[in-house]
Amino acid sequence: MKVTNAEIVISAVSQKQYPNDQLPEIALAGRSNVGKSSFINKLINRKNLARTSSKPGKTQTLNFYKINEAFYFVDVPGYGYAKVSKKEREKWGVMMEEYFQTRETLKAVFLITDVRHEPTRDDIQMYDFLKHFDLPVVVVATKLDKIPKTKRAKHLKRTIQTLQVESDDIVLPFSSETGEGKEEAWGILKQYI
Ligand code: GTP
Ligand code: MG
Repeated sequence: MKVTNAEIVISAVSQKQYPNDQLPEIALAGRSNVGKSSFINKLINRKNLARTSSKPGKTQTLNFYKINEAFYFVDVPGYGYAKVSKKEREKWGVMMEEYFQTRETLKAVFLITDVRHEPTRDDIQMYDFLKHFDLPVVVVATKLDKIPKTKRAKHLKRTIQTLQVESDDIVLPFSSETGEGKEEAWGILKQYI
């Protein structure tokens, strides 16, 4: 898809703030600092529309980015950052449930994992949580540029095994740095929007 228009519409903390124009939505989920916002930027060819940071916890709200007046990318705050208070974690949980459980325009979730590392317990929980709500999940194994080509197959296999990815679900090797997997990501996305 040629992206001609991309804009942030709202940073929402609760349901009543979500856009109500009924456009399909693709959400990003994943650990803090894994590269969710970078994924969006890479796909839409914008350096920093979705704010990124080398420090975890940059994205704190549900950020709705309208793309070509056709669909939304929803950037979701990450999980698994140790320095978050219990209260903040609870707030995050409420926000996630409210969104993933009830959002009818949500068509698919791209779960971003770091291909270098074995998926964490939080990653497994998130995958299971999304499957529980019958949401189509695409696992994006990002930061592919950080491992040598000879080791990629092994790392991808570990991701699939640890998450126990269902056979119908796609696992996409990706890098926001090099753009590997970008065309494939659009190919998958288009089936949902
Ligand atoms: P939160 O909003 O804190 O949850 O983080 P996030 O998941 O949105 O991560 P973000 O996109 O802000 O990226 C975190 C850091 O990882 C930044 O320093 C990015 O430049 C870096 N990064 C993201 N994707 C890649 C990638 O594919 N390769 C490399 N080498 N670095 C990446
Ligand atoms: Mg972010």
